[in-house]
Amino acid sequence: MRNLNPIVMKFFIDTANLAQIKEAQDLGVLDGVTTNPSLMAKEVIKGQENILKHYVDICKIVSGDVSAEVISTDFDGIVKEGEALAKLHKQIVVKVPMIKEGVKAINYFTGKGIRTNCTLVFSAGQALLAAKAGATYVSPFIGRLDDVSTDGLRLIEDIRTIYDNYGFKTQILAASVRHPMHIINCAMLGADVATCPLSAITALLKHPLTDSGLAQFLADAKK
Ligand code: G3P
Repeated sequence: MRNLNPIVMKFFIDTANLAQIKEAQDLGVLDGVTTNPSLMAKEVIKGQENILKHYVDICKIVSGDVSAEVISTDFDGIVKEGEALAKLHKQIVVKVPMIKEGVKAINYFTGKGIRTNCTLVFSAGQALLAAKAGATYVSPFIGRLDDVSTDGLRLIEDIRTIYDNYGFKTQILAASVRHPMHIINCAMLGADVATCPLSAITALLKHPLTDSGLAQFLADAKK
């Protein structure tokens, strides 16, 4: 019997675009947001102060966790940046890359009660390290693995097995999700969270038989 993390699967949106975050929030199924420096750059926000304000603006739209990524790669820099991000809002989760200094920083943040999302994870070994360091979330990038002919979903399965073997509380946050089948398969494999573009979330709605069935019902209702 698998020992799944006793929480429902969460949907996060993977964007820094306020309009898209609002649209997903209005759908009533959104549990949080993930951002990264590339997604922030797309929003063309000028100046550090405005970048920090943007994270707070995101927190005002959603009620769940909002990942904000550090750009330092040395321990002191990651800690300084992460502490500043965590102070912005109680919903902020500090996103830290899977590098040696990042693992040390995650361990430090865990000791301080600061929640973390370990990002750029591409192997089960990296996920094991993230959990050992106490990361709140681990982000395996399934789409980018698929892009290089490696099965991203297999990684989700392997991490689920490892975490369940030992009762690690780190939540598996499937990232680099590209389409609805990624979301469905992540749900079947027991990922705790999928962070998705808005298009992948809304694609879950669609089925041609729903459209034709509704058209028929509406036509019949007029008779
Ligand atoms: O936020 C990290 C991840 O979701 C990035 O996705 O599409 O750039 O591979 P992608």
